[in-house]
Amino acid sequence: MGGSVGLRLDPNNEYYALKADQYRVSKAALNMASACQAVEYGPKGWKIFLFCPGFTVSNLGPYNKLENGAKPTSEGARPMVGILNGERDSEHGGYLKADGQWQW
Ligand SMILES: NC(=O)c1ccc[n+]([C@@H]2O[C@H](COP(=O)([O-])OP(=O)(O)OC[C@H]3O[C@@H](n4cnc5c(N)ncnc54)[C@H](OP(=O)(O)O)[C@@H]3O)[C@@H](O)[C@H]2O)c1
Repeated sequence: MGGSVGLRLDPNNEYYALKADQYRVSKAALNMASACQAVEYGPKGWKIFLFCPGFTVSNLGPYNKLENGAKPTSEGARPMVGILNGERDSEHGGYLKADGQWQW
């Protein structure tokens, strides 16, 4: 989500005030790399996904804690199991979140 150009420009986005420029730039590059893979490998039958769990408990930073509103790791990771099991293959090339998709 940090790499979404559309969300970065949206003043209503909950993370609008969060600068994190270096993180955002690295994620934007990841987004483009994934889009390129989707275009290149999709015709060969590969399924390429981006998945962002949203704010989740982890060691990413000191703020990633339950008491700060982060979701439990199990909840953040669960959708990936569904993706790996092929439940969202129709969303090849998509920018997925737990329910639906993020804005590119
Ligand atoms: N947590 C969130 O709220 C959130 C939200 C959106 C996106 N994300 C993204 O989700 C991904 C995972 O983050 P996380 O929150 O799970 O953070 P994390 O708890 O810090 O986990 C990062 C993982 O990356 C591994 N790692 C770091 N540098 C590495 C390297 N050079 N080579 C191989 N493995 C390396 C770490 O391994 P070790 O444990 O061995 O150090 C660790 O398992 C990141 O790309 C993050 O940007 C996280």
